[in-house]
Amino acid sequence: MSKAIEIENFSYEYPDGTLALCNICLNVEHSQRLALIGPNGAGKSTLLLAMAGFVKGTGKVFIDGLQINKKNFKKIRTLLGSCLENPDDQLFMPTLFDDVAFGPLNMGIEAEKVKKRVTEALKTVGLEGMADKAPHHLSAGQKRAAAIATILSMAPKIITLDEPDGSLDPRNRKNLIKLLAALPQTLIIATCDMNFAATIADRTVLLDEGYIIADDDVKKIMSDSKLMTEHGLEVPTQFKNGNYHNFKS
Ligand SMILES: Nc1ncnc2c1ncn2[C@@H]1O[C@H](COP(=O)(O)OP(=O)(O)OP(=O)(O)O)[C@@H](O)[C@H]1O
Ligand SMILES: [Mg+2]
Repeated sequence: MSKAIEIENFSYEYPDGTLALCNICLNVEHSQRLALIGPNGAGKSTLLLAMAGFVKGTGKVFIDGLQINKKNFKKIRTLLGSCLENPDDQLFMPTLFDDVAFGPLNMGIEAEKVKKRVTEALKTVGLEGMADKAPHHLSAGQKRAAAIATILSMAPKIITLDEPDGSLDPRNRKNLIKLLAALPQTLIIATCDMNFAATIADRTVLLDEGYIIADDDVKKIMSDSKLMTEHGLEVPTQFKNGNYHNFKS
């Protein structure tokens, strides 16, 4: 069976010459929950953009066995949903309903079914009753939730999320962890919050300066204080105080 994501020797340089990703090799199994960690500028967002086919470098990227290229791009959009770092990049329609309906309508799903999907997605992220609201009038935390709803309504097999915990108050952060824990999809989540990463993931990839530095079990990487400090990160408190609970516990 094909893997959810397969990346072979992928490198990417931005037009200004910044080498953001260097020779990335990465396989992600279906239903895996991978936290992408690393200091600011490590290449986390660029790697998520590469997984969605939004940046095209050298090397190969396969999503559910399909290579990212012009011919497969439309199909890949339905397989992998990408929640961007800035929710404003994802919300551009006059109402929240339109934004969440946009993906499934583009997939050719009939209007009645789309309506159902929108209602369900908004309920899942705690925004029920807000379908008629203008997305630019939502609070920062609500925009995060709305951006996730635009992905859920497409029901992709794989979801990537770039800093989904940004701007969330403690209650909504807990709600997000609950929401992510209940999702059956393969999840790849970039975050700078190590406690959040430790709670939602079973595998961690540590990136720095465009290179994969470590790729292993969450606890193995995140309790290695030398490794974490060397790359500008901190051991999460739950590994310091022995009170580790992840999405399974
Ligand atoms: N549009 C761009 N043009 C040129 N360089 C860019 C561009 N976007 C990002 N970079 C550079 O690419 C490198 C990787 O950036 P990226 O945004 O992927 O890092 P990140 O790990 O997501 O960081 P953060 O934790 O701050 O979100 C950085 O050196 C950054 O300056
Ligand atoms: Mg980023």
